[in-house]
Amino acid sequence: MPLILGIETSCDETAIGIVRDRTLLANVISSSMDEHARFGGVVPEIASRAHLESFLNVLQQALSDAKVKLTDIDAIAVTEGPGLIGALLVGVAGATGLATALSKPLYGVNHLASHIAVDYLTHDEKIEPTIALLVSGGHSSLLQVNDLTSDVKKLGATMDDAAGEAFDKIARILDLGFPGGPAIDQIAKTGNPTAIDFPRGLTTAEDWRTRPFDFSFSGLKTAVARYLEKTPNAIKKDVAASFQDAVVDVPLLKSIKACVDSGIESLLIAGGVAANRGLRQALMTMAAANGWKIYIPDFPYCTDNAAMIAMAAHFKYIEGAFENLDVTAHARSTW
Ligand code: KG4
Ligand code: ZN
Repeated sequence: MPLILGIETSCDETAIGIVRDRTLLANVISSSMDEHARFGGVVPEIASRAHLESFLNVLQQALSDAKVKLTDIDAIAVTEGPGLIGALLVGVAGATGLATALSKPLYGVNHLASHIAVDYLTHDEKIEPTIALLVSGGHSSLLQVNDLTSDVKKLGATMDDAAGEAFDKIARILDLGFPGGPAIDQIAKTGNPTAIDFPRGLTTAEDWRTRPFDFSFSGLKTAVARYLEKTPNAIKKDVAASFQDAVVDVPLLKSIKACVDSGIESLLIAGGVAANRGLRQALMTMAAANGWKIYIPDFPYCTDNAAMIAMAAHFKYIEGAFENLDVTAHARSTW
């Protein structure tokens, strides 16, 4: 079975993962998050430089954890996009250099597809067809995944902020630091989710008719900011819990509709926000109530890592997908 080395540098994590078949042998992540925290968001130039600085150390650590030599690797995989272009370029250049030097195949991997592929590390059975709710810091979309490598249909996506971005922005207003998702998740646990009735974006009757699978989180962000301006003694944990409830509600409802409309009784959630306890719980309860399958990656595989890049390439490799040394970085994805 092929030994695949995956490289991820689309944002602030320099990550290298190694898988053989569907077994994870190494998953090394070096994050430059601390260097960005004081700016309240990821600074692209800092991220690119950090990737350059940590690439070789991360590579050596991954090989050592997996107890393999570089020459044992059967294929190299790298995130080609979407992401920060300068950051992606570091990974693509490193991967191309490795593949050339080793005379091994090189696979460019879509970062979003790999968030879905990582589920195969924890599930043995075939996951597709499934509806996939992809909620990360940069993207929020609802997909119909008929086949992970060849047939993914976009049903809808966010029209403004991504779900994770909304978490990060609200956490900043609440003074909870960056990244904000885990901090809001934490304090929401003791807050009252029904304390404040925040808006649910794109859920009017007209929206359900014309754009049933799209999301919008910017109105919610504005509503929270207004509430805090008007309410000097706002209880942070109640604001966090009510905000989280509002963010979770819409993907929940839209996922149900996607499953019902497509007849696919299976739902997968992926991306950093899939680590959110409120979202996981709501979707698990809903799936159990309907008798649907639900796939949620283990916590460490929700946020960015390179095990997911190696895993996505694993399927390309065994299906004999076309590979070449011509992988180019691209900032955007059609998903
Ligand atoms: O998938 P990811 O690691 O990076 C991107 O591809 O964007 O997602 C990062 C996002 C951040 O916005 C972070 O705040 C959010 O995922 N996140 C969470 C949680 N853990 C990470 N959001 C809500 N609850 C969490 N527990
Ligand atoms: Zn991601």
